[in-house]
Formats: sequence, C-alpha cells, structure tokens
Amino acid sequence: MDLRNAARQVRDNAYAPYSNFKVGAALRSGDGRLHVGCNVENVAYPEGTCAEAGAIAAMIAAGAQDIVAVYVIADSPDPVPPCGGCRQKLAEFGAQDVPVTLANLHGAERETTIGSLLPGAFGAGHMDRS
Ligand code: THU
Repeated sequence: MDLRNAARQVRDNAYAPYSNFKVGAALRSGDGRLHVGCNVENVAYPEGTCAEAGAIAAMIAAGAQDIVAVYVIADSPDPVPPCGGCRQKLAEFGAQDVPVTLANLHGAERETTIGSLLPGAFGAGHMDRS
C-alpha cells in the first residue's frame, strides 16, 4: 500500500471526540515497511497524542528506527502541518532531507522535509561537551 492510502485509512480510526479533527500519519522505514498512526484524544486534553507520535511509536515497536518518508493527512482546508512537538519527534528518527508530504482529503499536497519543518533542530551534538 502507498503512504497516502495508508494515512487515509488509519485516519478513519482516529479517536478525536473533543476536536472532531481526525489526523492520519504514515511513515516508511528504511527497510521498506509502513507504520501508521492516528490521533488519540483524552478527556484530560493534554494527554491526547498526535497521529505522527502514534506512527513513530508503531515504527519503534516494529523494530525499525529510521524514517525515510512521511505522509500526514487531515480534513483541513490546507494540507495539515505537524505541531512543534511532532517536528522534534520526527527529527529524532529521520534525516533532514527526508521527504514529508502534508495533505488534506481534497487532494491538496505540500511537499517539505524534516529539516525544513524544524530548522536549527536541537540534536545530540548539542550535548557534546568534550
Ligand atoms: N493533530 C495531529 O494528530 N497531528 C498534527 O499534525 C496536528 C494536530 C491532532 C491533535 C489533536 O487531536 C487534533 O489534531 C487537534 O489539534
């Protein structure tokens, strides 16, 4: 299955009774496998999790740690951008040049990269004191 269809399908399973804004995310790992996630909200609002975070958790649970492509889709007027926290989470597992496709249900797509979404990202190198 391609990334777009995987993200669309998993979006249907999102649990978003508070925002009524369902999001689906699909990642491809370096071994070619697909990993999907959707947002899971909670009545204690800050406990909700984003679609991207769910897809990353699925990838890690499946034994992969390297993102090579990302697709995020929602029923938004413009292609949906990942929140700040998800940008940092994506940067943990994907190189700066990894392609990210942001999409809506109406067929609009915007191509970007993990590096463009989070320029100047904090990384492990910033903790090197040697
Ligand atoms: N949301 C995501 O899952 N991913 C994004 O990239 C943007 C926002 C979710 C969080 C919350 O459940 C809902 O969308 C509204 O913010």
